[in-house]
Amino acid sequence: MTKKTDRINRVLTMELARVTERAAVSAARLIGRGDEKAADQAAVDAMRRELNALDIDGEVVIGEGERDEAPMLFIGEKVGTGKGPKVDIALDPLEGTTLTAKGMGNALAVVAMAQAGSLLNAPDVYMDKIALGGGYPDNLVDLDADPADNVKAVAKAKGVDVAHLNVCILDRPRHAEMIAKVREIGARITLITDGDIAGIIHTTDPSTGIDLYMGTGGAPEGVLAAAALRCTDGQMQGRLVLNDDGQKKRAQKMGITDFTKKYSVEEMAKGDVVLSATGVTSGSMLSGIVHVNGVKGAQNEIWTDTLLMRSSTGTIRWIKARHTHAHKFHLA
Ligand code: FBP
Repeated sequence: MTKKTDRINRVLTMELARVTERAAVSAARLIGRGDEKAADQAAVDAMRRELNALDIDGEVVIGEGERDEAPMLFIGEKVGTGKGPKVDIALDPLEGTTLTAKGMGNALAVVAMAQAGSLLNAPDVYMDKIALGGGYPDNLVDLDADPADNVKAVAKAKGVDVAHLNVCILDRPRHAEMIAKVREIGARITLITDGDIAGIIHTTDPSTGIDLYMGTGGAPEGVLAAAALRCTDGQMQGRLVLNDDGQKKRAQKMGITDFTKKYSVEEMAKGDVVLSATGVTSGSMLSGIVHVNGVKGAQNEIWTDTLLMRSSTGTIRWIKARHTHAHKFHLA
């Protein structure tokens, strides 16, 4: 349990919801328009503006990219007014750029905040991941175990037949063997085209029907997912995929020396962690942004749906908001 004095204050926690609400609303203008870059840029601009209005002395540790490749919200960028507590920020202003551009479900705006030095500084490479929700014995699954054995272990711990287990996996050719092994033992698979932060958070919510997440996706998304699992008592292992010297050097620059380390949730997100995610397009966990146009001159409204969680209290809030002053979202 985090000491009370080390916790991020309650008001700041609630403020984080506003940050992802604004990013999601901005990105939503670009839903279905086939322009991934524009959708991402809209979310980045809004998230940066809102973060800079917060009374924090923040540093982006998981961001839009490394300093030389991302003009905004890059790793190392300072955010906030500089007046408040020193915090690490991990963000993905638009998780699911393709989902948004194609008008598909489950795109999110996500940000996590923790005391300075609490979140893993990871380069923008791939990460091998395995994750499941709370309530299971520690170290139940392992990245190095056979996928079929991991699925069987979860089924046994849950007290169900493997046929009732549902595994979420990114639909990529690199996962063909894993998919075949899981199907061979009779478990079910939910294949997703994108968005593994949502895929991992799904394991923590029994209503989604997803028990386990497995596969390789982005490392930044892995750290954000770990922040969510930290708040929900979930389990995860993540291992950076560092294929060449260039990637190893980038990792080294961020203080990583053990290139094959399997990181636990606590090693990726420790201390008091707060995470906010707002739906951009509707998914099984959050509704997407809805614009309600009033009849001839009547006020327009925007509805948002946000999941706000905090590790020190374990509180999870679902915040549905109706914003009647749509002009304040800088949508002009
Ligand atoms: P973007 O929103 O940046 O497009 O990322 C979407 C995503 O699906 C992540 O959720 C996932 O971790 C990663 O891309 C997988 O990478 P790839 O598409 O290269 O397999």
